[in-house]
Amino acid sequence: MFTPTPQDKFTFGLWTVGWQARDPFGDATRPPLDPAESVHRLAELGAYGVTFHDDDLLAVEPDRAAAIDNFKKALAETGLKVPMATTNLFTHPVFKDGAFTSNDRDIRRYALRKVIRNLDLAAELGATTYVCWGGREGAESDAAKDVRAALDRYKEGLDLLCQYVIDQGYDIRFALEPKPNEPRGDILLPTVGHALAFINELAHSERVGLNPEVGHEQMAGLNFVHGISQALWHGKLFHIDLNGQHGPKYDQDLIFGHGDVKSAFFLVDLLENGGYEGPRHFDYKPLRTEDPEDVWVSAAANMRTYLILKAKSAAFRADPEVQEALAASRVGELTEPTLAAGETVADLQKDDFDVEAAGARGFHYSRLNQLALEHLLGVRG
Ligand code: GCO
Ligand code: MN
Ligand code: MN
Repeated sequence: MFTPTPQDKFTFGLWTVGWQARDPFGDATRPPLDPAESVHRLAELGAYGVTFHDDDLLAVEPDRAAAIDNFKKALAETGLKVPMATTNLFTHPVFKDGAFTSNDRDIRRYALRKVIRNLDLAAELGATTYVCWGGREGAESDAAKDVRAALDRYKEGLDLLCQYVIDQGYDIRFALEPKPNEPRGDILLPTVGHALAFINELAHSERVGLNPEVGHEQMAGLNFVHGISQALWHGKLFHIDLNGQHGPKYDQDLIFGHGDVKSAFFLVDLLENGGYEGPRHFDYKPLRTEDPEDVWVSAAANMRTYLILKAKSAAFRADPEVQEALAASRVGELTEPTLAAGETVADLQKDDFDVEAAGARGFHYSRLNQLALEHLLGVRG
């Protein structure tokens, strides 16, 4: 029970299990990890695939061609897939003022070349999603960045990259990953909502969607389940980064469910029932306190937690008392159009309505919420 299989479509970034736990105050606590070993260990644990930044492949083998060969060999040996790839546009000092939106034009041109080179590899490995996390696209001083010009350049970059994949005939869509801050003081496209509005202005908006991350919306104090619901409503949930976060503070990248577990429960319920069919991708960091074997315990924990929450969500929905409580709260009534087919504004104006009686009616949400909590705590079903 709760043992993952490739059918569950669990994927991990190479940079997650491979994180050496260097932070602003301390050195690495773990040695570098060979991407081939990550592929083998993740396959043994029941994952479906891996994802990577161009530079992740160079963790132990500095020669790019040899590193790619090692990675491909491990993929062939395990059958692991590569559904998504991305570019490191944040580690090297050249990106200190951003990549697509650096004030330095030469750096913007270099950033685009770096993405294009890895897009070719992503297509070759069968990836269909290309993530753009603009961690360095931002500023610490409002005097330093013309945000409207930066958005022009962001759009220019994405328009060019979309045109490139179209011209190459690649089956690749882009997924923007919002984040409010860290490493920049303020990052452009800080939330799901900002990114959705930006996508509307792009030349190939149908090819660009979102890769929202649990912790990033929660850092901004926002409700991640609502953000994902809206992304689904717009048809823009192209990919997702699952992890854990305790409210507005630095980006914790905890194991999925190790932050706000109630939100994680409702998120799994939404993903399983809301029509999302993409990979369940974990973007977490094994704690700095962990040794190399603990890393695999933490990787397994992400998948196990997801499967436990999936079972809890199914039991919640199947519980007759929950169904009765949902009906009593009239949750289903919201799917009914407010005007009946053929009704006019004149019909609406004729309505005879007892405002006082309606105002006195309760919605009984406390009972419903307690039922969800009791399912989550394991005392029902
Ligand atoms: C973060 C980000 C990154 C990106 C990843 C893809 O923790 O702030 O989530 O992990 O997802 O680098 O580019
Ligand atoms: Mn993060
Ligand atoms: Mn992420």
